[in-house]
Amino acid sequence: MKTENKRLDGEWERASWRQKLALQQPGYRDLDALQRVESQLTSMPPLVLPNEVASLRDRLARVAQGEAFLLQGGDCAESFSDFSIDSVRSTFNVLLQMAIVLTYAGRRPVLKVGRIAGQFGKPRSSDMEERDDKSLPSYRGDNINAPAFDERSREPDPDRMIMAYNQSANTLNLLRAFIGGGQADLHQVHQWNLSFLENNPLRERYEQMARTIQDALSFMEVCGINSQSHPALGQTEFFTSHEALLLPYEEALTRQNPATGGWYDSSAHMVWIGERTRQLDGAHVEFFRGIENPVGVKVGPSMQVDELLGLVDVLNPKNEPGRLTLISRMGSDGISKTLPALAAALKREGRQVVWSCDPMHGNTVKASSGFKTRSFDRILSEIKQFFGILESESVHPGGIHLEMTGQHVTECTGGAYQISDADLAKCYQTQCDPRLNADQVLELAFEIADFLRD
Ligand code: PEP
Ligand code: CO
Repeated sequence: MKTENKRLDGEWERASWRQKLALQQPGYRDLDALQRVESQLTSMPPLVLPNEVASLRDRLARVAQGEAFLLQGGDCAESFSDFSIDSVRSTFNVLLQMAIVLTYAGRRPVLKVGRIAGQFGKPRSSDMEERDDKSLPSYRGDNINAPAFDERSREPDPDRMIMAYNQSANTLNLLRAFIGGGQADLHQVHQWNLSFLENNPLRERYEQMARTIQDALSFMEVCGINSQSHPALGQTEFFTSHEALLLPYEEALTRQNPATGGWYDSSAHMVWIGERTRQLDGAHVEFFRGIENPVGVKVGPSMQVDELLGLVDVLNPKNEPGRLTLISRMGSDGISKTLPALAAALKREGRQVVWSCDPMHGNTVKASSGFKTRSFDRILSEIKQFFGILESESVHPGGIHLEMTGQHVTECTGGAYQISDADLAKCYQTQCDPRLNADQVLELAFEIADFLRD
């Protein structure tokens, strides 16, 4: 995409990405409609505010320094049709439950960042999808087109950006209400027991932990420390994030920060660049280098040391902790070949980054039943290797990045309930990649807690 905007080489503007090659963008046919939507979005209120973005940077700086742990998770792709208070609440609750387990075990604050309130656009390995004799544009996420395999659904529609903005605003409204309305109060830890815990083999372990926390709170209460005297006990911080793939949308929501004069992307607190769009000379890196938000970059198995150092230079030129999170997604077979040299090189060069592990995207396979899936064991294995490798390089394992849901889906195999290939058809609902379900995610938290404690 190109615009009329002239710029000096090297100077950043909201639109300077348009001078570069933008991969994974939809081919909108109605450019007038696109422009109308862009100017409409430009005049909408921001979804998040600069002070919130600055708080997240500050929290991530603590993660970079090994003082906190990052838990980032949510849907692979949010959906317009599955949107409900229950879907938002269950994701929020399961992230809180995981965070409790991890905080308790690791004795460090856990920073909660949802893949939520904007996680719509999906990069695809192929522009077209073939079924029988028909070839149609691939589904690229609900902010671009619709999943049904017919011409009308697959046509990219700029108005979907407005729908995505509205759903993001509604989601944030719910999240802010859950946070402010006492849902996250530690005293409620028992009530977070979602229905899925009823028959869960891990229920006893979770309840034991909840009882211990309750005992500690009762003791504090006797000492006069409660949610009224210490509001922090009754609240939590929760931030939003997504892959900022669809650049016209992100540009339109990028606003000047009155306090700094700089620019921030008001679509989410944190945004990341995907594995397929992280070219050093590409449009996404150009856009990201100029915004103040904390940013992430996916780091896949083909990443070279020089390439990564180049990206780190461009995205975090002042070497500020909290600005840049590297999200390793190499696969349980690939991580030991690639991560050690990358982590060692950044350490040697003194680069301040958060290293986080996405154990999902390098472990996707096609089951014999035809469903895309991931096995719990491989996911766990990649996380264990991630911790082991970074610790042996004397680098902090900063966090994890999961595709997960609070619902009872059957999309990933394994876990305590031993979901098999044959079970996948029972409740396979994802719009895109397979997610860990509420049971699997809690089980994973207990596994990670074991080695955080060690
Ligand atoms: C994702 O996080 O949904 C994704 C597409 O990841 P990656 O860019 O790492 O493939
Ligand atoms: Co995904």
